[in-house]
Amino acid sequence: MKKTPRKSGKSSKTSSPLRFEVKLGAPDFAKVAAHALTTVNVLAVYQDNAQKAMAPKGAIPAAVDLIEKLRKTEAYTAKAGTISFLRFAVNGGTESLLLVGGGKPAGSEEEKFRQAGGQAWARILAEKCDLVRVNVSSFVDVSGLKTEHSPVRLVRAFAEGMALAAYDYRGLKTDAAAKKPLPSVKVEFYTKDTKLKNELQSEVAEVAATAIAVALTRDWSNLPSNIGTPTYYADQASQLARQFGLKVRILTEKDCVREKMGLFLGVGQGSKQEVRLVVVEYVPAKAKKKLCLVGKGVTFDSGGISIKPGLRMEDMKHDMTGAATVLGATVLASLWGSAHHVIAVMAFAENMPDGGAINPGNVLTSRSGKTVEVLNTDAEGRLILGDALDFAQDMKPDAIVDVATLTGAVSVALGKYACAILGNDEEFIQQVQGSGSTHSERIWELPLWDDYFDDMRSDVADMRNVANDANGGTIRGAIFLKQFIRPGQAWAHLDIASTAYGLTHLPYLPKKGASGLYVRTLAQLAMDL
Ligand code: BES
Ligand code: MN
Ligand code: ZN
Repeated sequence: MKKTPRKSGKSSKTSSPLRFEVKLGAPDFAKVAAHALTTVNVLAVYQDNAQKAMAPKGAIPAAVDLIEKLRKTEAYTAKAGTISFLRFAVNGGTESLLLVGGGKPAGSEEEKFRQAGGQAWARILAEKCDLVRVNVSSFVDVSGLKTEHSPVRLVRAFAEGMALAAYDYRGLKTDAAAKKPLPSVKVEFYTKDTKLKNELQSEVAEVAATAIAVALTRDWSNLPSNIGTPTYYADQASQLARQFGLKVRILTEKDCVREKMGLFLGVGQGSKQEVRLVVVEYVPAKAKKKLCLVGKGVTFDSGGISIKPGLRMEDMKHDMTGAATVLGATVLASLWGSAHHVIAVMAFAENMPDGGAINPGNVLTSRSGKTVEVLNTDAEGRLILGDALDFAQDMKPDAIVDVATLTGAVSVALGKYACAILGNDEEFIQQVQGSGSTHSERIWELPLWDDYFDDMRSDVADMRNVANDANGGTIRGAIFLKQFIRPGQAWAHLDIASTAYGLTHLPYLPKKGASGLYVRTLAQLAMDL
């Protein structure tokens, strides 16, 4: 990761209940005073070749002693992915240990510890700990087992797991539990190594910024659509831009008429809510490259006249997660101090079926001039993005990534374990995937052969918004978008419909509601460009 000095003060308004601090030296295990019941010492514990727990070198003697004893039992083996919380008597008081099972160092150490961080956070909350002391030296290789990862990256991943898990959306609940703020927890990282301390300091600051940006994206995505209207998000974007020192520009419905955004306006015309196109920019001094992130912001997708079935229609409040993701990523790129100009273009509209709504068979004229026969008003995301992508290209970015909950078909293809990427530039696609793998966010490429456009030609317009059948649905969505990409423009499309919400398999993500995935990837891309 490239390091540029971070601007101070920007992360002061934190929504994270975690306060991180990096300290020199070892935690004083003898001082079991006031914090005896609420302090927990965190140790990473690996396994030896006989799959027995090994006491980490440099750990506090009482802990080494304890693990040595446990090592002889079958009860504790430090299996990867296990979290063990122990309280024991020491010096006339009690101490707590959280043993993070490291198993045998394998290939994906960072993700192992990110997940452990998520599990640790749940346990820390359950045990009502308010001071967490992470023993950094326990994350270092032990007894010749090589992890090929620096302890800094492993500790960072562990901290990130905790920070991402420390999110709780209470919505509009009014009961006492919902009114209580998340308990504030201080996390201290101890090392005796000054160099390591300095490295950790900046990593930990980046993690704190990550928590802020991801929480922002999740909050937006989780908002019900009676509150989260296009005008609401435009207002919020202005406030956030002020808070984070970003530029903002808002195009009202009138402005969009002037821009001839016929597809975008067409989607919004069946709703009482006016559309908004919101542009938020992070412009560093002497910006090198320009990255444009375009987000689908359908505040509610009823399907329009091609109305959706009722089952789980409420989930369609999340149909603006693409917009929420590009905003979070732009904020995060600024907090991380990217050297590049990052522009978020967010197209907000509500897809509703009133008397003014577009009908199947209607023909709309896009900003680019191309005409589209709308056969299915539920394929609205591609319409919105067609105009937003055209608008974005006027700013002459070096690369564009659009992010959208575009197709249910991506769930058929990949399940909830990855989002799909499609685009026109193999090198750029690989770069986005690479930025994703830095944070263990999976991005799988699907092909974008022009053959897929064959049955999307229309008898009465330049194209139709759906194919003859539902097969290859994710590719069909992307090949439609490609019609709006100008020659030579590097572009990639992320279909996040399957990963935007309701992910239950990762301990550091909320079990319900928005995941906030790919904020880290896109901010990383803004660093890596
Ligand atoms: N917003 C939906 C896609 C979606 C589905 C997101 C499930 C999250 C969960 C999108 O606008 C849509 O309705 N797509 C249609 C396209 C079809 C009509 C070609 C779909 O996937 O069924
Ligand atoms: Mn739809
Ligand atoms: Zn949609």
